[in-house]
Amino acid sequence: MDQLYEIKELEVSITSSCTLACANCGFLVPNQPAPAMGEPVAEITAALDVLYQAGVRVGSLAILGGEPTIDGRLLQRASSAIATTRIAKRLEVVSNGLTPRGLKASLQYIDRLSISVYGFGQALLDRYRTWMNLAAPHVELALRASDDGWDPWADERTVDDAQAQAMFDSCWYRRHCTTVERGRLFMCSRIAKFSRDEEGLPLSPATTLDDVRAYLEQPVFLPSCATCTPMMGLELVPAGVQPDDRIARLEARAIDWLDCEISHATARIL
Ligand SMILES: C[S@@+](CC[C@H](N)C(=O)[O-])C[C@H]1O[C@@H](n2cnc3c(N)ncnc32)[C@H](O)[C@@H]1O
Ligand code: SF4
Ligand code: SF4
Repeated sequence: MDQLYEIKELEVSITSSCTLACANCGFLVPNQPAPAMGEPVAEITAALDVLYQAGVRVGSLAILGGEPTIDGRLLQRASSAIATTRIAKRLEVVSNGLTPRGLKASLQYIDRLSISVYGFGQALLDRYRTWMNLAAPHVELALRASDDGWDPWADERTVDDAQAQAMFDSCWYRRHCTTVERGRLFMCSRIAKFSRDEEGLPLSPATTLDDVRAYLEQPVFLPSCATCTPMMGLELVPAGVQPDDRIARLEARAIDWLDCEISHATARIL
């Protein structure tokens, strides 16, 4: 292939369901739109194949949800199929860490596990470190704390064109959260999650590298940028706040499950 184009970070969501209900979820859970119109694994891999054939390569491809570990079989099928496309140098799962059972079958396909730490303690993280060392030493474990808080997502505000352009020019999300869903490439996950499909690039076998480059490198802000509260520099909101004690309940179950896995893996080594 003569010409290649690298997207440094690309995200795909395999489900809109989640084990948590974080206030201000940046993926709009529980109102996240379905990330696929049909069967998600087939649809995502078809879209990635289109990009690959056009000459796109990805530095790090993240599988998210909702919560991607909520359905272990789906995550296994997705991680295995995405690895087979060979589009990404590195495959990552981003998880809230509370259903490790759903991760187990996918560890062989991924390079990195990012756990977003919402209100659980060191005991669970220590179990993860031990489990990864025993079961998947090739997987890098990254912990994502949100101690400073999250960007507000729900406020309804609009800025003028000059400010929308300034937000677009300095946008963190479009450098880190390019997204593929519903057969389209999106500048950022926010535009995808707000179902602004008309602001995405439809992917088809006719899509060229120039189409992708022209879309991602367009100089002028998109309509969604004018209402983009995450980029407005507003006061941050607390991260990962739940309506009830579900984190404590899921955390206890996760620790029990990890303790069993660790003792089985240790017994296999001895
Ligand atoms: C939407 S979550 C999906 C994956 C998984 N459920 C999780 O929470 O890690 C992906 C990432 O977005 C971050 N995130 C969610 N809401 C956010 C917000 N309002 N501002 C900034 N980051 C946010 C999360 O902390 C997480 O690292
Ligand atoms: S864990 Fe929280 S941030 Fe992640 S998708 Fe679920 S509700 Fe959103
Ligand atoms: S809507 Fe525009 S400014 Fe907001 S995250 Fe997306 S690209 Fe950036």
